[in-house]
Amino acid sequence: MAEIINFAHRGAAGHCPENTMASFARALELGATGIETDVQMTRDGQLVLIHDESLQRTAGTPEWIKDITLEEAKQCEVGSWFREDYLGESIPTLEELLELVRGTDTIINLELKTGVVLYPGIEQRVIDEVRRFGLAERTIISSFNHYSLVECKKIAPDIRTGILYMEGLYEPWDYAKRIGADALHAYQYALTPELVAAAKEAGVAYHPFTVNDPKVMRALIQAGVAGIITDYPDVLAELLG
Ligand code: G3P
Ligand code: MG
Repeated sequence: MAEIINFAHRGAAGHCPENTMASFARALELGATGIETDVQMTRDGQLVLIHDESLQRTAGTPEWIKDITLEEAKQCEVGSWFREDYLGESIPTLEELLELVRGTDTIINLELKTGVVLYPGIEQRVIDEVRRFGLAERTIISSFNHYSLVECKKIAPDIRTGILYMEGLYEPWDYAKRIGADALHAYQYALTPELVAAAKEAGVAYHPFTVNDPKVMRALIQAGVAGIITDYPDVLAELLG
């Protein structure tokens, strides 16, 4: 049986401030074999890793990423909202993450946050960066905006893509094939063992998110998913033995 990928969601977001270098490094220490992160683009076209379009929740300032430069983004502090001892964590660039994982076997799941802000050209920019580090084989690009996934496949047919969705997409493996996607990044309750089996039969992998309950993790492993996205890669690592 192929090894189930243990994707750390936003790094080890259950233990550290999400989408920070501390969170990514901790994920690797805790046994993650994959890292999921969210990619957005600054006003000057630089790729940064942050979940929300606005800086309000994690940096306490109302600006949006699309409106500020990388230099301005780098002055934001995104650690202390989580816990005081993480004061000083900055917003990482995609380059910093790729540098961290370059010497490891880690699978990289880059979620393009093109749902609210479209960030024209982000697909090409992300693919160029992945290629610059020679990490195409280890990268999966996902998005809730499936036009972004189609665009990625046009630019880079060799890079895997994953369809993000929340609810009952009908026979999602057929849809995946139609848009050239390789994996289903489904909300954890949008799948059943029957769906997993049918997708597998069609050659499409399930990587459900964001699974933090060990009981749900166990059921999904049993059902035959190819990977699980979790805030607690340590809990999943223990279950996977
Ligand atoms: O990629 C899985 C998951 O991260 C999707 O939702 O909102 O946590 O980015 P979100
Ligand atoms: Mg995400």
